[in-house]
Amino acid sequence: MRIAMIGSGYVGLVSGACLSEFGHQVICVDKDESKIAALRQGVMPIFEPGLDEVVAANVKAGRLTFETELGKAVSSADAVFIGVGTPSRRGDGHADLSYVFAAAEEIALALTGYTVVVTKSTVPVGTSRKVEEIIRRIKPDAQFDMASNPEFLREGSAIGDFRRPDRVVVGCDSERAREVMREVYRPLFLNETPILFTSRESSELIKYAANAFLATKITFINEMADLCEKLGADVQDVSRGIGLDGRIGGKFLHAGPGFGGSCFPKDTLALVKTARDAGLPTQIVEAVVAVNDERKLRMAKKIEAAFGGVKGKTIAVLGLTFKPNTDDMRDAPSLVIVPKLQAAGAVIRAFDPEGAKEAAKHLNVQQCKDAYDAIQGADGVVILTEWNEFRALDLAKVKAALKTPLVIDLRNIYRPAMMAQAGFRYVSVGRAEADGR
Ligand code: UGA
Repeated sequence: MRIAMIGSGYVGLVSGACLSEFGHQVICVDKDESKIAALRQGVMPIFEPGLDEVVAANVKAGRLTFETELGKAVSSADAVFIGVGTPSRRGDGHADLSYVFAAAEEIALALTGYTVVVTKSTVPVGTSRKVEEIIRRIKPDAQFDMASNPEFLREGSAIGDFRRPDRVVVGCDSERAREVMREVYRPLFLNETPILFTSRESSELIKYAANAFLATKITFINEMADLCEKLGADVQDVSRGIGLDGRIGGKFLHAGPGFGGSCFPKDTLALVKTARDAGLPTQIVEAVVAVNDERKLRMAKKIEAAFGGVKGKTIAVLGLTFKPNTDDMRDAPSLVIVPKLQAAGAVIRAFDPEGAKEAAKHLNVQQCKDAYDAIQGADGVVILTEWNEFRALDLAKVKAALKTPLVIDLRNIYRPAMMAQAGFRYVSVGRAEADGR
């Protein structure tokens, strides 16, 4: 199979690289010349574990190449995937589809022979039909079918997610296109990955519904965590206790500072808009968006309260990215929490293993060389992102470096009893405070 991947951002690049690993001939296209030049040199535009190896191996094998012009890639392709960005439109929260539609116009001009055009980016219900209309208008005699094939990979574990997905969803109305899509994903059938064929509208909505459901699950457990704190219960026991019910499932029940990232905030907002436009507001998703926004401010207040006011205090912040194993800062809770603490008079010494460069674009904080450097002389530590290297800090060293032994862990990566034993005052999420001073 010959595949053109239009857009070499997170989804496009990971999908393109992994599809070439399946044995397909893939050309990844991006208008950003410096990005393509870097990719040709083996330099990745994002930090994603394992991505550089997959790219290098498939470039070496001659299956993966990079281009700035889509013409050649599209004209030779059996399937053209649109993986360009769909940011939140400023002002109204709708997904901005200008890149998708611009790609559709260019694709139309370059199509030759029968081709399946696939929307891979997360796009609102109805977009695949609009893309089809654009292509038909520009090239009425084009031989093509449209398909919707949303991507469910997570940042930080994107390669593993693409290689072993829970399911592949394909929305399309033509049997010929279904055959092409079956062929694209045939290597996954060995793992018995379910492939679900639906209409394009269902496929597009599955993506939003999946993200909104996961965001709801997180928001639900975050509310339970607050209730646990008030009632003297332990949210980790509650998560486990409900998660063992197979109908609920234990995943995505970690209480924390609120969800962030490039997907949940944008996609929940877009679903809210879609539903409102359809005259059927989704009350649950609207509540999730509002509760999650408010949560980040609440976390800043929680930190201030734990410090008894942060004016003039130096706070070591461990982790700035929205989750570990990424350098992505989009909608990271740190972007709300850190400026709030600074506005209240705190001095922030931060460390993030991979996010320092990205964080520097958004936050004006002192970036330290490692966790201990950040902690040195601080009045307390706040753990904002659960990077593995923060999970087993040398507690004696931490205590010795701190002015006062206060640890605020918004990811619950330590056990309260252990922290008390190590002599800390330990504040976490949805669990009783421990005080070993
Ligand atoms: C999410 C989905 O998990 C993917 O399936 C989807 O493909 C992707 O969005 C997308 O639409 O492209 P991602 O944003 O990479 O993936 O990261 P997640 O691991 O889902 O985490 C999202 C946020 O939820 C993070 O801020 C994380 O800290 C938070 N989270 C997650 C919790 O607070 N608690 C949890 O139990 C799980």
